[in-house]
Amino acid sequence: MIIVLATANQNKVIELTNLLPQDIELKSLKEIGITTEIPETGSTLRENAFLKASFVKNHLKKQNLNYPVLSDDSGLEVEALGNEPGVNSAIYAGIPKDDQANNQKLLNELKKVTKRQATFKTVICYIDAEVHYFEGHVNGTISYEARGQNGFGYDPLFIPQGYRSTFAELSQEIKNSLSHRAQAIKAFLSYIKSE
Ligand code: IMP
Repeated sequence: MIIVLATANQNKVIELTNLLPQDIELKSLKEIGITTEIPETGSTLRENAFLKASFVKNHLKKQNLNYPVLSDDSGLEVEALGNEPGVNSAIYAGIPKDDQANNQKLLNELKKVTKRQATFKTVICYIDAEVHYFEGHVNGTISYEARGQNGFGYDPLFIPQGYRSTFAELSQEIKNSLSHRAQAIKAFLSYIKSE
């Protein structure tokens, strides 16, 4: 089976490749000729996941290709900030996207805050003959400083429940065993197996 991954984020491509079984052949946006950024103008993770997957599905249709498409939209909800940055996680510190600036802004916003609970969420949109959504989340807390070199995005600040280390300090294997993305992929795989 072939699936097109509707993401230009190489870090997501790596994680999704590790999370999906090897008998699924993944095609990148580049391989199907998409080099422009796909607009993410939705007001929810679900809307943005749909925008990305449907953009790619329409592009494929024009080439008479019928591959299914999978997209991932993720966001970090911080309780003390009224669940911000949420759907705006990628551009929290402004445009263009800058992971380090986002992390710095989050640390500044939480400077005097001791209640640091947060949830990382992923919505996967999968379009075959129909549109399907699969969701995953992981609870945790926000650290007081950036720690660790692994992963990407907010990983240096996110400490999953039950651990003392941030995602960026944990191995990719551990992150992939409990992350928001791993949970969403698990739900996706049970759909694929039922087909
Ligand atoms: P998007 O899903 O590409 O819109 O990503 C939203 C924001 O969350 C971006 O700033 C990403 O860097 C960040 N992000 C997405 N997934 C993860 C993750 O697994 N760990 C840490 N940050 C992430």
